[in-house]
Amino acid sequence: MTNKVVIANFKMNKTIRDTKEYIAELIPLITTSKVVVGICPPFTAIKSAEHKLKATNILLGAQNMHVEDKGAYTGEVSGEMIKEAGASFVILGHSERRSIYKENNILINKKIKKALKLGIKIVLCVGESLAERGQDKTEEVLNVQLSEGLKDVYANEMGNIIIAYEPVWSIGTGKVPTNEQIAQAMQNIKDTIKKLYNAQIANSTIVLYGGSVNENNSKDIASIKGVSGALVGGASLDAKKFAKIISNFS
Ligand code: 13P
Repeated sequence: MTNKVVIANFKMNKTIRDTKEYIAELIPLITTSKVVVGICPPFTAIKSAEHKLKATNILLGAQNMHVEDKGAYTGEVSGEMIKEAGASFVILGHSERRSIYKENNILINKKIKKALKLGIKIVLCVGESLAERGQDKTEEVLNVQLSEGLKDVYANEMGNIIIAYEPVWSIGTGKVPTNEQIAQAMQNIKDTIKKLYNAQIANSTIVLYGGSVNENNSKDIASIKGVSGALVGGASLDAKKFAKIISNFS
């Protein structure tokens, strides 16, 4: 049995000071070793978070990175930069990046390959919009996002990639799919990975659920077949709530 994985995505929340205080509060609240915990603060707080996390098993990630190594990309941050700051993994393909910043599967695929080259692990987010679910296109959307996102990613690199199923309509809305809908999406994701690679890789790939996970619904979500953990936005901003979610996955 692989451990469960629970990751906090702060999005554009928390200053350096907030992040340091949060970590100090969170560390003593984590009482299980059965859950791999990760936090993704904004770029500015990664370095100071690294200092605070030194004596812990908590992993540190970034929420994005640019596809190029360096150059005239005002306002952007490269993979090398997040790695130097202390991030061991990066969230790629988040629906907010896809919708607000128009990132498509081709770009996301390039970023994945760049991260792999730099030795940065990846949480690849996939998920359907409400309209796509309404049109019964969830399976197709997941299939396309995975096959295009993972294009030319080798089987022996898949151990460095976690998939997060985040239905767009569930992010920040308080709306959670039914357990059956989540289980079905998990199955679709595993089936696609099996087609792209093989059954062993499909089995061993960690798939998280993300979208309105909180301290009250996480125990139930943790029990769903195929769910290996959670990617948490809003509820992760409160160390006590996030710690409760972690314990609900243990
Ligand atoms: P919420 O938990 O706020 O719905 O956000 C989920 C998310 O987007 C995590 O990446």
